[in-house]
Amino acid sequence: MKRFLLLAAVLFTVLPARADEGMWLPSLISQRIADMQAKGLKLSAEDIYSVNHSSLKDAVVLFGGGCTGELVSDEGLLFTNHHCGYSYIQRHSSVEHDYLKDGFWAKNRAEELPNPGLTVRFLVKMEDVTAAVLKGDKPKFTDEQRDALIKKNIEALRKQETNPAKGLVAQVNSLYYGNQYFLYVFQEFRDVRLVGAPPSSIGKFGGETDNWMWPRHTGDFSIFRIYADQDGNPADYSPENVPYHPKKSFIVSRKGVNEGDFTFVYGCPGSTQEYVHSEAVRYIQDISDPEKIALRTTRLEIMKKYMDQSQAVRIQYSSKYASVANAWKKWQGEEKGLRKNKIVPLKQEYEKRFAEWAVGTRYEGLTDRLAQLYTAREPIYRAYEYYNETVRTIERLNMAANPNFNRKDYYEPIDSETFVAMMSAFDQALDDSYKPEIFLRKRAQYGSMEKWRDAVFADSLEARELARAFTNFVNENLSPQVSALNKSIEKLYHDYMQGQREFEPEKAFYPDANLTLRIAYGSVAGYSPSDAVYYRPVSTLKGIIEKDNPDIFDYDIPQVLRDIYARGGHESQPVCFLATNHTTGGNSGSPVLNGEGQLIGINFDRVWEGTMSDLAFDPEICRNISLDIRYLLFVIQEVGHADYLFDEMHFAD
Ligand code: ARG
Ligand code: GLU
Repeated sequence: MKRFLLLAAVLFTVLPARADEGMWLPSLISQRIADMQAKGLKLSAEDIYSVNHSSLKDAVVLFGGGCTGELVSDEGLLFTNHHCGYSYIQRHSSVEHDYLKDGFWAKNRAEELPNPGLTVRFLVKMEDVTAAVLKGDKPKFTDEQRDALIKKNIEALRKQETNPAKGLVAQVNSLYYGNQYFLYVFQEFRDVRLVGAPPSSIGKFGGETDNWMWPRHTGDFSIFRIYADQDGNPADYSPENVPYHPKKSFIVSRKGVNEGDFTFVYGCPGSTQEYVHSEAVRYIQDISDPEKIALRTTRLEIMKKYMDQSQAVRIQYSSKYASVANAWKKWQGEEKGLRKNKIVPLKQEYEKRFAEWAVGTRYEGLTDRLAQLYTAREPIYRAYEYYNETVRTIERLNMAANPNFNRKDYYEPIDSETFVAMMSAFDQALDDSYKPEIFLRKRAQYGSMEKWRDAVFADSLEARELARAFTNFVNENLSPQVSALNKSIEKLYHDYMQGQREFEPEKAFYPDANLTLRIAYGSVAGYSPSDAVYYRPVSTLKGIIEKDNPDIFDYDIPQVLRDIYARGGHESQPVCFLATNHTTGGNSGSPVLNGEGQLIGINFDRVWEGTMSDLAFDPEICRNISLDIRYLLFVIQEVGHADYLFDEMHFAD
């Protein structure tokens, strides 16, 4: 372990193999700062991350447990994406005041709307606690003994830093498959109020059609405010609470972006797997992605058929449709990108070189053992994934198992067709040994999926029995087997990760994303998705007008936008831009910053041809999509008439 740490210190200081790849740890950003400065950063490492002074990290939050947000005033004002605030905006919406459809703008602090359950987390500090986590470890320990020790040490570290009165929560994350451990201490605020949101026809403009795509014209932002008690501490919602004064907030730049400009993204990427074996990638590319895409295509077709027939059903299922379609589209880009960029053969070639180098070291045979474990895992893991994408998506079964199931947004004809399609797919794709006994029995009893469906939908006891049998089968059978194999694989990765770092001492490694604060940096850039096609990196209001079509739901813009455009002078109003920053899910809502650390945009998506960056980043094709902050200001002013918000913000120019 010592040897590894020493080595790590050396490794971290050199350049990555490919420019712009990487999600770097803020507390170690001094190791990247020279490269960042060479590319256009005007700040120091201390400006970006410091525990002693206020720094940019104090203006970034984990928003709602899955997105990022940024502070933009001394009064706790916060920007994030529209799709991150969506469920809260939806909860405040009703037929009388449909904020989702029409937008919402609090005219004063008293009109700001509380959101029970919504929290934001500021990072107080992060530190390497590897030594403390492994304290007391002995070479003779069994895996179980070592796991128990690590668990105990982590609990002790967490307890030390936790302080409910101050809202301090602590967690310890393993990095590099348990080769390093970091302690994170957060301050969590729980009175977060809705301040503003554009109409969905702006905030979700392009809908599923444009999702993951460029050119993009979505005004994907919403505005919140953090409240604290009189002493500035986190508190439950109370009318007595006051706006929180953050240690830092972002200055907004209206200067805009040009191709080639340096940018960086400060946010909370959720999950990546950059160092996995070629077999893991092959499984995703050849089996997991194609099968899940096909299953979701079927489900989306069923939903769409009924949504097209009825406005009421469209409203009921729009959120469900969006979440099914989001991963469905991402996987398509991922599969395509992995193939096109030959990631599997490239990884195989790398593994061959690694294996040759490893002869005589403690890493000898490691890549072969990983391949064998993946082969052993494949059938059971495929069954597990298949179950999740088929049986688990049948709402009737979820309803039977969960008393809190939301029946308001349920339309039986969709679910009934889904039952037949998904149960048949499950049946056809898998060997009978991956099905619970009840499945085989009922299948024989009813003779057809339609008859079985009729019975399940007519009789809640029948539904409950089936739901319970499946849950038990998965909990007792599939899950334990998958977990055991995953655990063995993780153990090998602990060594393989270490081995890769010794094998490539010149390369700068960054840990896989884990929903903690990271910094990605790159530059504003277009890209070429295919032969003879080049996409420029900036979209404008002109493009919104070009897409405008009152007959297509996704492209039906508010009349006010048409009127503003007709008055003239706004053709070149920038809307979104592309850059080479390495981002992933969770980075939604992240501040996109210029060389001075000023806010120039809000990250909200990637181009789908580049979504394989979760497994392998290619600077030629991987692009993050950001909302240009000037479009946000334009919408606040021209559409929301809420420019009183500008009074509390700070502008650079
Ligand atoms: N693709 C973006 C992100 O993963 C935006 C998703 C929300 N928007 C939508 N049209 N579904 O998650
Ligand atoms: N929209 C994604 C999110 O919700 C960000 C897009 C991505 O995966 O990069 O975090």
